Amino acid sequence: MISSYIYSSQTNDEIETESLRDIQTIAKRENLAHSITGYLTYKKETFIQYIEGPEKEIEQLIKNLHNDKRHTILKSIHFPPKTERVFKDWSMRYIEYGELIEIGFHELLETVFFTVDNKIFEEDRVIEKLNQMLEKIATTQKNIK
Ligand SMILES: Cc1cc2nc3c(=O)[nH]c(=O)nc-3n(C[C@H](O)[C@H](O)[C@H](O)COP(=O)(O)O)c2cc1C
Repeated sequence: MISSYIYSSQTNDEIETESLRDIQTIAKRENLAHSITGYLTYKKETFIQYIEGPEKEIEQLIKNLHNDKRHTILKSIHFPPKTERVFKDWSMRYIEYGELIEIGFHELLETVFFTVDNKIFEEDRVIEKLNQMLEKIATTQKNIK
């Protein structure tokens, strides 16, 4: 089974283009080595990242991410175990924010940021919505490639 996790975080200092590139390089290399796939996006001091892979590897990465002083995790959701990955061939794809707007990213942002706290939806409804958004991102990106 595949473990998966999504979070939003706020940067602790301003993130330079160079540090953003460093994060992407390390993420790609490490995730490839640990069978982790997913995507990362960044805009206005906010990261949103989705990761999926073997349970142990995901738990370790979550610990690392929580200890990383470059950002503070604000919201996060563990998905119920999945039988298949959503992002089968991306060790860590960085997605430009503009691309995400085109595919309705604001909806994902809203879901992660607001619905969990406000309890507009039950947890399983939030998970269902997030999974739909992830599928949409994966499919649209495949078409663009
Ligand atoms: C926004 C953000 C996203 C990150 N994504 C990943 C990732 O996908 N994979 C990864 O191995 N490290 C990622 N990192 C780096 C980890 O937080 C951590 O530095 C890395 O796993 C090494 O941890 P260690 O030095 O404790 O071994 C990310 C860091 C940030 C700030």
